[in-house]
Amino acid sequence: MLRVVVLGAAAGGGVPQWNCGCPVCRAARIEHSELRSTQTSIAISADGAHWFLVNASPDLRQQVIASPQLHPREGSLRHSPIAGVILTNGEVDAVAGLLSMREGSPFIIYGHPNVLAILKANTIFNVLGEGNVKRQPIEADQAFEPKLPDGSESGIEILPFAVTGKVAWYLRDKAQPGGRGDEVGDTLGLRIRDKTSDKYFYFLAACAVVSDELKSRLAGAPLVFFDGTVWRDDEMIASGLGSKTGQSMGHIAMSGKNGAIESLAGLGIERKIFLHVNNSNPALLSGSQERATLERAGWQIPRDGTEIVL
Ligand code: MLT
Ligand code: MN
Ligand code: ZN
Repeated sequence: MLRVVVLGAAAGGGVPQWNCGCPVCRAARIEHSELRSTQTSIAISADGAHWFLVNASPDLRQQVIASPQLHPREGSLRHSPIAGVILTNGEVDAVAGLLSMREGSPFIIYGHPNVLAILKANTIFNVLGEGNVKRQPIEADQAFEPKLPDGSESGIEILPFAVTGKVAWYLRDKAQPGGRGDEVGDTLGLRIRDKTSDKYFYFLAACAVVSDELKSRLAGAPLVFFDGTVWRDDEMIASGLGSKTGQSMGHIAMSGKNGAIESLAGLGIERKIFLHVNNSNPALLSGSQERATLERAGWQIPRDGTEIVL
């Protein structure tokens, strides 16, 4: 059995974003609190007792408080069910939550060498002392099994693979920590499989292009979490919210030719869920035309706290 908890489904900034007066953020602040969403992360477990986070969002503290699955064990003075964090990129909204995990509990950070180099170059992450918090490199196309705190097997196999994306936004045009030359590994997708039941799903919260190779990988999957940042590529510019396009941030649009909805149609994917949905995205509004189109195509946008059992 594989348990998956959506800790947060929003893109960087969350919904509402602290400085945003867009229609979605305004509605979320005032009469539509159901629109509120924290920044994207999921928790996974094969045994229900030990959990692994996929990315550590800046909202992690709030997410742990809201998730009984992640609370300290009854009767323990200090304990956390969180055994590890798998990082799929080095963006602020994927790594900043690590700083909330600094109170001495042991866990392992799994990340591509490019991403681990970013952590190493930012000395504030030294609050996660190496005695307690090991950093384990992972490579594209090399499956690994995250370990429980006592070193035993978790029963979960994770296969990372490179997807078209980008280096973290704050590092564009900057010297890259670790001195690596290419961007393979800056954005990973994951296949996550329960070794006992063989149930699996995919996690791609960032992806700029759906290649034919990616289509055949995802075909027939029981569950895919996919990049839902923007409805259309230029929506932030068109609505006066900023100058970034989806593509400049390494994110595919939901709609349009070669968008996520069209690209992943007809592949026999049983359940399709958007994550990393930006507050500029009109599909967040139930009753919007965009939301209706998305749902007709078999997609969902989850509420924070949604648990799925495979
Ligand atoms: C992204 O996912 O592209 C980032 O969160 C962008 C950003 O930090 O602005
Ligand atoms: Mn992001
Ligand atoms: Zn907004």
